[in-house]
Amino acid sequence: MTDSDALIDFLAGRQSVKADLLEEPAPDDAELERLLIPAMSAPDHGALRPWRFLAIRGASRDRLGDVFADALQRRQPDASDEDIGAIRAKPLRAPLVVAVGAEITENHPKVPPEEQIVAAGCAAHALLLAAHAAGWGAIMLTGWPAHDETVRAALGFAAKDRLVGFVYMGTAPADRRDKKRPDPARFLRTWSGARS
Ligand SMILES: Cc1cc2nc3c(=O)[nH]c(=O)nc-3n(C[C@H](O)[C@H](O)[C@H](O)COP(=O)(O)O)c2cc1C
Repeated sequence: MTDSDALIDFLAGRQSVKADLLEEPAPDDAELERLLIPAMSAPDHGALRPWRFLAIRGASRDRLGDVFADALQRRQPDASDEDIGAIRAKPLRAPLVVAVGAEITENHPKVPPEEQIVAAGCAAHALLLAAHAAGWGAIMLTGWPAHDETVRAALGFAAKDRLVGFVYMGTAPADRRDKKRPDPARFLRTWSGARS
């Protein structure tokens, strides 16, 4: 196996860890900054750097839970106490939640908002791969809170901006089974340009 085979195998070995299996410790601020270095190389049309990362830990996760609960009550005034309690508890599943947003430059002559969201998504993936490289457990989750205006505003984003997801991070259990992944050949075709 060549070095590049080994690296490709390593990258292919990234897999998510369920949020409620993620335990302390989580990356501290310095470690998170290190893990975000590869995110700065995410493909980025116009070098707009649209990605934003909010580290949410400790009691701030309780406040994020309150934001989720308030948002649910606003969306669904008849929500049950059980549902409200369940959504409030979501951020507490892991010791660190990194909210990943795209700060959108509107009316850009070359880069539509979709491309800026893709760039932020690529940056989030880079964070997941860096976490894998450093041995941290992580998973990217959305659910309706990522698309809710009031959640977005509470996190400091404008209405034009988007949340691309919440990356839950922490220490993964030691015993993990490798997931079987599909054969990439199933997803690849050569397009010759011939008209059918
Ligand atoms: C933008 C985005 C949002 C996601 N949101 C959720 C989610 O809300 N709930 C969920 O179970 N998985 C969600 N996933 C999928 C998980 O991150 C993960 O990929 C999935 O559990 C499969 O695990 P794997 O990454 O090991 O293949 C999301 C993925 C992406 C890219």
